[in-house]
Amino acid sequence: MNSLRLLVPGRQIALHNSRSLSGIATSEPSHPNVSTAIPGPKSKALKAKMDPIHQTPSVKMFVDYEKSFGNYLVDADGNQLLDVYMQISSLPLGYNHPEMVKCASDPRLITSIVSRPALGSFPRHDFPAMIEKALISVAPKGLTSVQTMLCGTSANENALKTAFIHYQTRKRGGPPRLQDLESCMTQDQPGTPNLSVLSFNGAFHGRSLACLSITRSKPVHKVDIPALDWPIANFPRYMYPLEKHETHNQKQDEQCLGQVEKLIEVRKKEQRDVAAVIVEPIQSEGGDHHGSPNFFKRLQSVCKKHGVVFIVDEVQTGGGPTGSFWAHEQWNLESPPDMVIFSKKMITGGYYFKEELRVNEPYRIYNTWMGDPSKLVVLEKALEVIKRDGLVEKTKNVGENLLAGLQKLEAAYPQQVSNTRGVGTYCAFDLKDAKTRDQLIEACITEGLHIGGCGDASIRFRPALVFDQKHLDLTLEILNKAAKKVF
Ligand SMILES: Cc1ncc(COP(=O)(O)O)c(C=O)c1O
Ligand SMILES: *[C@@H]1O[C@H](CO)[C@@H](O)[C@H](O)[C@H]1NC(C)=O
Ligand SMILES: *[C@@H]1O[C@H](CO)[C@@H](O)[C@H](O)[C@H]1NC(C)=O
Repeated sequence: MNSLRLLVPGRQIALHNSRSLSGIATSEPSHPNVSTAIPGPKSKALKAKMDPIHQTPSVKMFVDYEKSFGNYLVDADGNQLLDVYMQISSLPLGYNHPEMVKCASDPRLITSIVSRPALGSFPRHDFPAMIEKALISVAPKGLTSVQTMLCGTSANENALKTAFIHYQTRKRGGPPRLQDLESCMTQDQPGTPNLSVLSFNGAFHGRSLACLSITRSKPVHKVDIPALDWPIANFPRYMYPLEKHETHNQKQDEQCLGQVEKLIEVRKKEQRDVAAVIVEPIQSEGGDHHGSPNFFKRLQSVCKKHGVVFIVDEVQTGGGPTGSFWAHEQWNLESPPDMVIFSKKMITGGYYFKEELRVNEPYRIYNTWMGDPSKLVVLEKALEVIKRDGLVEKTKNVGENLLAGLQKLEAAYPQQVSNTRGVGTYCAFDLKDAKTRDQLIEACITEGLHIGGCGDASIRFRPALVFDQKHLDLTLEILNKAAKKVF
């Protein structure tokens, strides 16, 4: 291979024709290329090196982030993988998008990293402009305020606090009184209220202490951790194709909504009110379970009727993968959700909220960083590219072809594959058991397709917004090859 060697202080980097002088790849491979087992010998050696000094049990492979480009991940062993998992659905434009790389030399980004602000007290002079340009420009319709945070979990954690503060402020008709301030220090009522948040079986909202009480996807997240006594309702479990199972699916909606309303009413009677309901548009980590627009519309009206804050967790669905910028746009709600949570493809964590949820007292929603302006510089650029190149619309179109390709796979292997479903490129299907699912993932990786699992026995697609028809063709080719091997 045509490579030139260049000495950089302290290390040598090999430069191939597809890499610029800075050592960062500038073009996308045309095919996967796997020449070792994955993880390969280099990844394994790195894991052995890291293990004594850091936790490693979930490390799958080490990645060469200089060599990776576009839809292709290059691992430490030089294997090139077509990546439809994309850092757990979190890179909007894939690896090393040239315009994003260029924006890394923006002085605003440099100073934000080198002199990182304590945002709650000392924001940058241009921070309001950054929020406006990046976050407000894509705000869900009807929501005009936003709060940045660090990640999806911290956004959820602070959204729950905001909902509780709102609930109590409305109940009292004003800010905390002396008896609230005194009783909260001994964790007694009224300062420490007996409020709860309702969430759903199969939900995933993060792994912090409070978020674990609303997360019900898998035991591995929850075991050994004390939990708050908060109510849980069932989330619909549809059968596909939807139009063939209308009766079953509508009954699912009815049963789940009935449970939600009952739980809210019972808790109210017991004077331990449900202050908020939190829900994912598509339960992702829990197995790509969809809810219908009708389910969400009615869920919102149950919340409205009982004065419960309606929180939509778009950490994984937000930013375009479902074919609309926000998944909840596809529900045609009469009014916006009270709060919308984001992270992943939005590059910064945070939440949009209705004006009435604004917390007026300082330090109640607060920490040192509360976000990171450098992320807004990168997000601003990503959004510019997404809008200019029509990537959300593109994702919708490529997604339709992806779904059709997966339906063909299901038709070819009806004993093995079921419930093919998806919106945009946010697609999934079920295998007959976890073992078969894991074998299929393994076979795909061996053929150069990096794909993710979710739930008990599902496979999920989470490509970047730069996933094109040519990447889709390769994806389906490899998937079919792997299926032939495994089934
Ligand atoms: C719907 C949802 N909420 C919250 C989270 C937690 O976000 P983070 O991992 O950024 O803390 C995730 C992460 O996968 C998620 O999918
Ligand atoms: C695949 O990778 C191997 C090892 O890096 C390399 O020798 C080979 O030329 C590559 N094949 C193609 C088709 O790029
Ligand atoms: C909160 O509710 C629980 C469960 O009903 C109850 O045991 C507890 O006493 C309540 N706490 C307060 C302070 O009322």
